[in-house]
Amino acid sequence: MPRSPPGVAACETAPNIALIKYWGIRDPERNLPYNSSISVTLDRLRSRTRVRFRPGLTADEFRLNGVRMGGGPLGDVRRFLDRVRDLSGVTDHAEVRSTNNFQTASGLASSASGFAALAGAATLAAGLDLSPRQLSQLARLGSGSACRSVFGGFVEWRRGTRPDGRDCYARPLFDEHHWPELVDVVAIVANAPTKVVRSASAMQASVRTSAEFARRQRELPARIDALRRALKNRNGPALFALIMEECDSFRRVCETTTPSLNYLTRTSREVLEAVRLENAVRGEAVAGYTHDAGAHVHVFTLRANATRVRARIQAIRGVSATHVLHAGPGPRILRVTRG
Ligand code: DP6
Repeated sequence: MPRSPPGVAACETAPNIALIKYWGIRDPERNLPYNSSISVTLDRLRSRTRVRFRPGLTADEFRLNGVRMGGGPLGDVRRFLDRVRDLSGVTDHAEVRSTNNFQTASGLASSASGFAALAGAATLAAGLDLSPRQLSQLARLGSGSACRSVFGGFVEWRRGTRPDGRDCYARPLFDEHHWPELVDVVAIVANAPTKVVRSASAMQASVRTSAEFARRQRELPARIDALRRALKNRNGPALFALIMEECDSFRRVCETTTPSLNYLTRTSREVLEAVRLENAVRGEAVAGYTHDAGAHVHVFTLRANATRVRARIQAIRGVSATHVLHAGPGPRILRVTRG
């Protein structure tokens, strides 16, 4: 039985950008990853989701940015709501309304913030009161990277070793105030293709077919330790070198997958090259790039270099805009009304 009658709840969350990528699922049933990953939850970008359980509704409904969704996205939301119904005992169907203040399915991690917001709003509307760790484990079942958006600041998703997944969850490493000088200049690439295949399926093709996958897994534990240290010590050059090494490793796995996964456009590649050039000219890593399964590129740098780095990126033909972001806070509950 539900702890209290179902009602309405709304929650706001932010996307995260992975500095160490999640890429490969060892248990698809429980969405358990092969490797741990580390991300930064971003400020300014937001997903807002409202869930209302309504007696008499014959099926779950999902609107994204005002548009009624069907097909895959609706199926994903329904499966997620089924889990919340199983946990809570609620039997009603729900209306889900979600808005993003940024582009959906473009490599800006809308599924991460979307499922983190859905997990928060749906559980509260169902009368459940989950701990952040439980919420992270639930969000993971909607979209792996969503388990990290349950926290603000710098977050590590630990792969865990238990077959039942109880030790697989995200936890905060440092809060959003840890390193205020760290800036993420996001290069928005014009005509970026819309993501058609979910990363969860694409990465399984890499597990099956990329000869690079196993090598990457062997390299990761040392890289993860080094990255945690660079964050702790607020060591810019170390962080920038590590995230580029990691991003290149992720891209090699994608490109050696059959069929090959190519997320970048020519413009994205020019952004990577501009960062390499800037570092070569300066004689040390003053900036570092990373990207997810999309064409937009995140360029991390320190506040002192941000204006110069941004101007350089903005000057590249095909970069339609640049956003200057920082580490941001975790989820915010906007509304809870029971019964
Ligand atoms: C490259 O968790 O977004 O962004 O469940 O298909 O939404 P879906 O997968 P998702 O995969 C994230 C892949 C990545 C790396 C990362 O965020 O760690």
